[in-house]
Amino acid sequence: MLSDKDRIFTNLYGFQDPGLEGARKRGQWDNTKAILELGPEAIVDIMKKSGLRGRGGAGFPTGLKWSFMPKEIKERPHYLVVNADESEPGTCKDRDIMRHDPHTLVEGCLVASFAMRAHACYIYVRGEFIREKEALQRAIDEAYAANLIGKNNIHGWDFDLYVHHGAGAYICGEETALLESLEGKKGQPRLKPPFPANVGLYGCPTTVNNVESIAVAPTIIRRGADWFAGIGRPNNTGTKVFCISGHVNKPCNVEEEMGIPLRELIDRHCGGVRGGWDNLLAVIPGGASVPLLPKSICDDVLMDFDSLKAVQSGLGTAAVIVMDKSTDVIKAIQRLAYFYKHESCGQCTPCREGTGWMWRVMTRMVKGDAKVSEIDLLQEVSKEIEGHTICALGDAAAWPIQGLIRHFRPEIEKRIADYSRMAAE
Ligand SMILES: Cc1cc2nc3c(=O)[nH]c(=O)nc-3n(C[C@H](O)[C@H](O)[C@H](O)COP(=O)(O)O)c2cc1C
Ligand code: SF4
Repeated sequence: MLSDKDRIFTNLYGFQDPGLEGARKRGQWDNTKAILELGPEAIVDIMKKSGLRGRGGAGFPTGLKWSFMPKEIKERPHYLVVNADESEPGTCKDRDIMRHDPHTLVEGCLVASFAMRAHACYIYVRGEFIREKEALQRAIDEAYAANLIGKNNIHGWDFDLYVHHGAGAYICGEETALLESLEGKKGQPRLKPPFPANVGLYGCPTTVNNVESIAVAPTIIRRGADWFAGIGRPNNTGTKVFCISGHVNKPCNVEEEMGIPLRELIDRHCGGVRGGWDNLLAVIPGGASVPLLPKSICDDVLMDFDSLKAVQSGLGTAAVIVMDKSTDVIKAIQRLAYFYKHESCGQCTPCREGTGWMWRVMTRMVKGDAKVSEIDLLQEVSKEIEGHTICALGDAAAWPIQGLIRHFRPEIEKRIADYSRMAAE
């Protein structure tokens, strides 16, 4: 269990002042100049050694990503873009960072931008986050007024920070669709390569990182790579904000140690599963896009990238969606299938056509109005979508359905049998 002294987000619940004065009391903006004096290379090195993996879903090592940026500014400016689109169902951690602890992010933007030689950073905020955007803007205004950022600031690195408000499309969370949207175009993912570090925002070297990945950086550098790397397990280090929703007694966001057992996370912080642990049916451990896990696996699985991958799921955004035995699990996954169909940008045929097709089949399966052979067909089609599209929305649409078939096939077969029997009567 994470001890209080190891918490990075000490105002996650908004009990204290989110403003600059409160932030300073909590240790933020404490001699940030000394961090910058380390120089870009040393900062990137600390980030690499800390083992931090991106908190936006894919878990790509943050320090390594930063090191892909050119080592000097040539004819094109560099940019940091912070992904605050947070539209993955079940995920609501960046939201609390922005509204209650926004200076962690503002300071992180300065530090990360300096490490990547960027004089400007854009934070792309989800369209629906009206109050969060206001809270974030307040913190940015305070930082400008105190000369912590801006031209000729006290840190000696000219730096401008802009907030851009999205229009509320899930696909704009995909990093290249986000860049398109920021440029004023339709939010559709770009083909990669080229990767943003070479050709990103306005064709310039760019790094896109999640809010949490950036907000934890100053504390990691202040406290040292070894401190962060000492929390969790090798390759799965540090603290992590988990978002737990669904059939628990007290849904919450909580910063915990990476690798905490799922059961402990739910029992300790959420007052347990509604009706007790034995009433658990399944958990989606990392936001809607990852395959669900039945209770038997939930009993002892650890909440980190490698442990969840080993059970054919993923940590994703660490949004834990708990379903008790009252859940119609086929209907739950059908609802997610509708979400992906609705959010597909339509560029690639397997995703555009496949998400709609899967949703329609799933809709019949909720009633049982299907043939048993269609379960295999559904699995096959999901495999044709997975890995065959421009962006990972295709995978995200396929995985929940694959998880359902893997773990709840008898449930689907029973639904079909019941329907056929009723139809025959
Ligand atoms: C459909 C889709 C939606 C995504 N939505 C988000 C999002 O809302 N926030 C986010 O940080 N990353 C999101 N991502 C992941 C980003 O593409 C990218 O990997 C991430 O912002 C990188 O940050 P990180 O390295 O700090 O994790 C999404 C990816 C896909 C395919
Ligand atoms: S996978 Fe889907 S959302 Fe992603 S680019 Fe292709 S059509 Fe658009």
